[in-house]
Amino acid sequence: STPFKIAAIPGDGIGKEVMPEGLRVLEAAARRFDIPLEFTQIDWASCDHYAKTGQMMPDDWKAQLQGHDAIYFGAVGWPATVPDHVSLWGSLLKFRREFDQYINLRPARLFEGVPCPLAGRKAGDIDFMIVRENTEGEYTNLGGVMYEGTEREIVIQESVFSRFGADRVLKYAFELAQSRQRKHLTVATKSNGIAISMPWWDKRADAVGADFPEVTVDKQHIDILSARFVLQPSRFDVVVASNLFGDILSDLGPACTGTIGLAPSANLNPERRFPSLFEPVHGSAPDIYGKNIANPVAMIWSGALMLHFLGRRDAHDAIVKAIERVLIEGPRTGDLGGSASTTEMGKAIAALI
Ligand code: NAD
Ligand code: IPM
Ligand code: MN
Repeated sequence: STPFKIAAIPGDGIGKEVMPEGLRVLEAAARRFDIPLEFTQIDWASCDHYAKTGQMMPDDWKAQLQGHDAIYFGAVGWPATVPDHVSLWGSLLKFRREFDQYINLRPARLFEGVPCPLAGRKAGDIDFMIVRENTEGEYTNLGGVMYEGTEREIVIQESVFSRFGADRVLKYAFELAQSRQRKHLTVATKSNGIAISMPWWDKRADAVGADFPEVTVDKQHIDILSARFVLQPSRFDVVVASNLFGDILSDLGPACTGTIGLAPSANLNPERRFPSLFEPVHGSAPDIYGKNIANPVAMIWSGALMLHFLGRRDAHDAIVKAIERVLIEGPRTGDLGGSASTTEMGKAIAALI
């Protein structure tokens, strides 16, 4: 059969350390389940490339990636040499926008064997999905600085919400909630303070939700919603949020399950007009880079989500099972209370496939 074409982009920092473990596990799954995978190794979309060329990516990046079934992505950012807004708007945020990956799906799950920072929670108590709007909202470069350098300096940063953009992410979230056992959707809002876009967002949720009578809906202001992630995480099933709110919730949710080193994400163009992108939620972690101590699970689980999206549920399930076992039996990296290296943990997971 025709192989799946995957573009592998390690990026910066620990992206370069977790990528080999992700590939190791994908290759093990490919062998075990007879899945033809063909990788294109890409060294751009990195601050190293920027240092060499003055830009994050070659001009023809889109053409180079377009023919792929998926992008497997590590992390970008090296703020010591390239300002973050330059490296991220020059790579990841371009992918999300220009490949119209308007869904960012980010699970948070408390696994057996992982110490939970919240008192009294056990495996299974936390198991929800964040559906983050991924192409518009608060993430814009519309605006500017006036009277710069004076005491009267003024900064304007616009947000952009479209009916098309809100409705499609809300619809996806309702459908996801509908397909799950609890059929519950939390809508992140801030309609008290953000007086234009957020009451409007609530109205779009009502309009889209009219087609999903079985789904129970709970609109919560982002402030108390964040508090409840910590205090009552079991009440959540699917959570839908704007771009910025979803970004914040998707570090907080996984933190409540022990470490952000576990959290995967799927940046989806559900219509498959463009390649979708699979990456850890975490970044390039300059503070631990170079020591081979980063947790590779977020990267590996993201690979499983990629195979799921490509129609290989069997391989996805096998990878998740292997992750579950290694989280119980070890070896574990430092963020999980262990002392294993990135490589040791990756190899242990691959060996169980
Ligand atoms: P970060 O996620 O890189 O790191 C936050 C903290 O979590 C650090 O203490 C780090 O050591 C720890 N951590 C992260 N991943 C870990 C892992 N797999 N195992 C163990 N510990 C882990 O966030 P940051 O420090 O805010 O950002 C660093 C750089 O990464 C910046 O340039 C930022 O813009 C970029 N970034 C990129 C992405 C992405 O590419 N998707 C995401 C977030 C941040
Ligand atoms: C993420 C990251 C990115 C985001 C940054 C690096 C631009 O934090 O994927 O969560 O804010 O979307
Ligand atoms: Mn983030």
